[in-house]
Amino acid sequence: MKRALIVTGGGDCPGLNAVIRAIVKRASQEKDWEILGSIQAFNGVLWEPSEIKVLTPEVVRGIHYQGGTIIETTNKGGPFAWPVKNNDGTYSAVDRSDEMIRKIQYMGIDAVISIGGDGSQRISQLLFEKGLNIIGVPKTIDNDLSTTDSTFGFQTAVEIATDAVDKLVTTAASHNRVFFLEVMGRYAGWIALNAAVAGGAEVCLIPEFPYDLNIVKERLEARFRHGRGFAVVVISEGARPKDGTLSTEQNDEVGYENLRLGGAGRALIKRLKDTGFEHDMRETVLGHLQRGGVPIAYDRVLSAQFGVKAFEMALEGDFGKMVAYRHPHFISVPLVDAIAEPNIVTIDNALVKTATGLGISLGIDLNKE
Ligand code: F6P
Repeated sequence: MKRALIVTGGGDCPGLNAVIRAIVKRASQEKDWEILGSIQAFNGVLWEPSEIKVLTPEVVRGIHYQGGTIIETTNKGGPFAWPVKNNDGTYSAVDRSDEMIRKIQYMGIDAVISIGGDGSQRISQLLFEKGLNIIGVPKTIDNDLSTTDSTFGFQTAVEIATDAVDKLVTTAASHNRVFFLEVMGRYAGWIALNAAVAGGAEVCLIPEFPYDLNIVKERLEARFRHGRGFAVVVISEGARPKDGTLSTEQNDEVGYENLRLGGAGRALIKRLKDTGFEHDMRETVLGHLQRGGVPIAYDRVLSAQFGVKAFEMALEGDFGKMVAYRHPHFISVPLVDAIAEPNIVTIDNALVKTATGLGISLGIDLNKE
C-alpha cells in the first residue's frame, strides 16, 4: 500500500475541496494508493495525538462545489515556527520540522501534496530540501504565485469583487456618492484590476503603483463637473499613496506572522477630505467574502486539473515541484522557481493597457512611469 498525505495551508480559498476530491478520485483508479489528509495544514501531524483523516471517494463525494476545506487550514505557526508558551506567558517559535518529517516517514507516507500559496510553498521547498517527498499545488485568491498562468480561487474572488462593484454603482449613482471598494490581494493588484475593468470603475489603485492623491482627486472632481455625479473606486488592501505607508491592522494572534493589511480605503477618504474634497464618500471592505462560498465553474475545473496532475506527479515521483498551468498544458515546475519572484502587476501588462484604454485612472501619471 502506498500513501499520499494532503495538507491545505494558508488562507482558505474557493476550490480547495475540488482539488482534494480530484486527487482522491484519480488515486482511486490505482489499486494500491491510500489518500490521507492532515487536519489544519501540518498541525494534524504535529499534534499529539495526531489528527489524520482517511480520504476515500465516499468522504469526498460532492465536495467539489463546497467552499472552505474539509481538512481545515491555518496561516499560523507551522513546522518551522511552532508556537510554544513560555513561563512568562509569551510565545517562542520552535523548529519542529525534523521531528515532523520523521513522523511522516513513520506513518508510511510516500508523497505529501501541499495545497497552498507562497508561504506554504516556501515551507514545501524547505521540507523538500530536508528530504521530504513533496509536491505543491498553487492556491491563492491573490494570484501572486509566478510560474503558473493562474492560481485556483482567483477568478472566484474576481467574480465576487465585480458583483460588489456592480452593486455599489447603483447605490453610488442614486446618492451622488463616491464609493471606495477595498479588495484583497496583499501586494498584488490582480483582483482590483480585474474587478475594475469588469465592473467599469472610474479609478483603480493597486499596490504596484503608489498613487498620486492629486491625480485621484482631479479625476473624481471631474465626475462632478456638472454638479451631480458619482464614482466607484476599487482600491487594493495593499495600495498606498506615493509618499505614504501601507494601511495595516493590529494582530496579536499567536503565531500569526503576516502583516495584516486593512484600512486603505478609509485612509484615502481621510486624505481626500483633508485636501478639501467635498463630495459624499463611503467605503466598503469586501474582506473574507472574497474567499468564502462556492468556487465558480472556472475554478472547479482548474482545481480538478491541478488535483489530477498533482497525483500523477506523485505516481511518477516528481517531487520538489509544483503543478503549474501554462495554457493549454499542466506541467511541473521546481518549487524554487515558483517562490523566487511574486507575480505582480507590471506597467507593461496587457490588462493595464486595457484599463487605461477604457479610461480607468490608476492614480498615476503614466507618462512618468
Ligand atoms: O492571501 C490571501 C488573503 O486572503 C489576502 O488577500 C489577505 O491579505 C489575507 O489572506 C488575509 O488573511 P487572514 O485570513 O489571516 O485574515
